[in-house]
Amino acid sequence: MYPVTSVKAFEETEAVGTMKAEKRGLSLKREVGLIGAVSFIAGTMIGSGIFMSPQFVLSTVGSPGASLVVWACCGLIAMLGGLCYAELGTVIPESGANYIYILRTAGKVVAFVFVFTYIMVMKPATATGISLSLAEYVVAPFYDGCSPPQLVVKCVAAGSIILLAIINCVSVRLATRVQVFSLVVKVLALAVIVLGGVVMLFQGNTQNFDNSFEGSKLSINSIGIAFYQGLWSYDGWSTLNNLTEEVKHPEVNLPRAIIIAISLVTGLYLLVNVSYLTVMTPRELMTSSAVAVTWGNKVLGSWGWVMSVAAALSAFGSLNGTFFSGGRVCFVAAREGHMPDILAMAHVHRLTPSPALIFTAVVSLVVLIPGDFQSIVNFFSFTAWFFYAITLSGLLYLKIRKPELPRPYKVPIILPVLVLLAAIFLVLAPIVDDPQIEYLYVTLFMFSGAIIYVPFIHYKIFPHLLTKLTVFLQLFLEVAPADKNL
Ligand code: ARG
Repeated sequence: MYPVTSVKAFEETEAVGTMKAEKRGLSLKREVGLIGAVSFIAGTMIGSGIFMSPQFVLSTVGSPGASLVVWACCGLIAMLGGLCYAELGTVIPESGANYIYILRTAGKVVAFVFVFTYIMVMKPATATGISLSLAEYVVAPFYDGCSPPQLVVKCVAAGSIILLAIINCVSVRLATRVQVFSLVVKVLALAVIVLGGVVMLFQGNTQNFDNSFEGSKLSINSIGIAFYQGLWSYDGWSTLNNLTEEVKHPEVNLPRAIIIAISLVTGLYLLVNVSYLTVMTPRELMTSSAVAVTWGNKVLGSWGWVMSVAAALSAFGSLNGTFFSGGRVCFVAAREGHMPDILAMAHVHRLTPSPALIFTAVVSLVVLIPGDFQSIVNFFSFTAWFFYAITLSGLLYLKIRKPELPRPYKVPIILPVLVLLAAIFLVLAPIVDDPQIEYLYVTLFMFSGAIIYVPFIHYKIFPHLLTKLTVFLQLFLEVAPADKNL
């Protein structure tokens, strides 16, 4: 949402806190106020999940009551997590969220493992998950009442990834417009769903809430997976921490924006779920491939397709945001020497971070071939919560071992302890109860990052190979080192 072109200031800044000794040559203009910050967080959180995950949450926990409890608890976890990140963001006031917090607390190797996994797995998985949701909604009206062929869904998803990568490579302004437009559309769509649900409730359609806990399936694995699906819809609660250096008065605005945005989104999600459950029976909800379309067909009748367009546009905006913000972590990591420089470069005229965009798009297309929405979201959440756990341990470390650091915003120590316990549960639950070999692959992949670190980053072997490749790609893509914020 914050164009590259808007960042102008170049000045020597003093090292941050007592933790960063060296001087940095680059500082970013603080342009993001409270409203911008709130819409940035809410705009990232609301995307594909609320239009896709409700049926998966419901089918994994088995009853409407349990499903609403899961959605409320996910909101609570996001809120507590957000508050902890507000403290982290004010103690370590640098941009880069997880990456920079892990770097400053757990050190270089773990930070590299994070950024490696982020770029190779998390970012592409996010893009693929969202694009699959988009595709389901685009094709749903054409396959009324039956599920569309997977090949069609995947081709549409691939098309959307390519289209958005091109838009983001071509013009920052166009990408920003897509972002704003989609934010308006998705808030309107959710408002329509909430209103429709309220009207139906007042008309006395409450039968789906009778005995609402009947049939709950409460195994550790099912609770874990239901949380993965729910938390996917809330993911993005820590995005503002990616751009702390651009927020005005972060010590005030960071916590405020986090509290406002997460409470808004939680309230909205709960109401939307109540509306889905009012209008559809649990069975209808579980078997629908695109909940908002089924909802639309039942409430809006012949206007049902509007919901499909709105949900697709919402996912389109999230996918755009995923590409748009992609450059930032690459940029911060390249600044630390943890990424090939090429991924932090920008097109010389257009100022778009095209190498990082192209890279993410290509990996996303590869992930798309075997993946389906549900499993991609599960693997994403597993990996994301693994790193949230490491970051939160870092916060505990800072609170216990460095109490002297200035803390403009402080949370009681019990908060990070609780969120850390939740994170550990989330990472372990699906493995302990029903181990699947794929989780082992993801874990091995993360650790392979540590093995790559030693020869390539620490000892810098083959420096010339990389330099030659960088120069070639620079000429080919017309990109140059970016002095600006990407
Ligand atoms: N919550 C978003 C959705 O429901 C997904 C967010 C993915 N994560 C992110 N950092 N962009 O689609």
